Amino acid sequence: MTQKVRKAVFPVAGLGTRFLPATKSMPKEMLTVVDKPVIQYAVEEALAAGIEEIIFVTGRGKSALENHFDKPYELSDALRKKGKMKELDMVENVLPENVRVYYTRQGAPLGLGHAVLCARGIVGNEPFALLLPDDIIYSNQGTMLKDMVDAYEETGCSQVMVQEVPTDRIKNYGILDPKGAEVKNGRVQAHAFVEKPKPEDAPSNLGVVGRYILSPRIFDFLEEKVVGAGGEIQLTDAMDKLIQEQDFYGFLLDGQRFDCGDKVGFQQANLFYALKDDYIGPRLREFLEQEHIKNELSKTA
Ligand code: G1P
Repeated sequence: MTQKVRKAVFPVAGLGTRFLPATKSMPKEMLTVVDKPVIQYAVEEALAAGIEEIIFVTGRGKSALENHFDKPYELSDALRKKGKMKELDMVENVLPENVRVYYTRQGAPLGLGHAVLCARGIVGNEPFALLLPDDIIYSNQGTMLKDMVDAYEETGCSQVMVQEVPTDRIKNYGILDPKGAEVKNGRVQAHAFVEKPKPEDAPSNLGVVGRYILSPRIFDFLEEKVVGAGGEIQLTDAMDKLIQEQDFYGFLLDGQRFDCGDKVGFQQANLFYALKDDYIGPRLREFLEQEHIKNELSKTA
């Protein structure tokens, strides 16, 4: 019987320099996609997968994020007095009562592997989900992370979400090496991982996107603190070592991933969720259909 996956780690120490000046005094994870901060999408996905404990690996200047997941007593009081019960529910129930939240700091920007290692003491000796909140994952059934959790709990094998990426983007991803293994039912066995290879050296075009279910054995490899691509301690390198000992699987993304760490991906996410919204969607479409708006948009900025 394998252990249950109860905990999720969210690395949120990044500076968000790509979004300056918006992120000068605000964490990038608090930028809004329609009406929710980016971080809330990943947290809701984790909760839907049955996660009960949330671990944020934070850094300096992230207090707005901590406040977001706390109870806002003054605001709740004011909303209650005004009878704004819908809004009250929105601010009170960002997290269900039974979910516990922990914060730990990543003292120095030494890479994703280092950020994950910072959570070791809180995760302990049990498997955990890792969600990189820059990635918003939209899947029709909304159950991909849950499927990955189930797969871990059935097999004890670590799981990672992957998507086919265009050749010119391979250098931005951890790449899964299937060594000839075929994708079956949207899953593929991984035989190696390589962080941000040159396209000509890449073993495949299967890029790791920010969802992982990891065995706690990963921490032993992270503890070696080997410096990898970009001079950082890379999670991908530790995964490549774990794979020598334990089977590891890739889950092919069935849906849409928005890279909100990038300005284009962030705007795509806003457009997508806005157009899907019952209130905003029709109004936004109507706005875009107006001739003078179309004319204006046809000119380059
Ligand atoms: C990180 C990981 C990389 C992964 C990517 C997914 O890179 O190191 O393996 O493919 O996230 O978003 P980063 O985007 O932080 O450079």
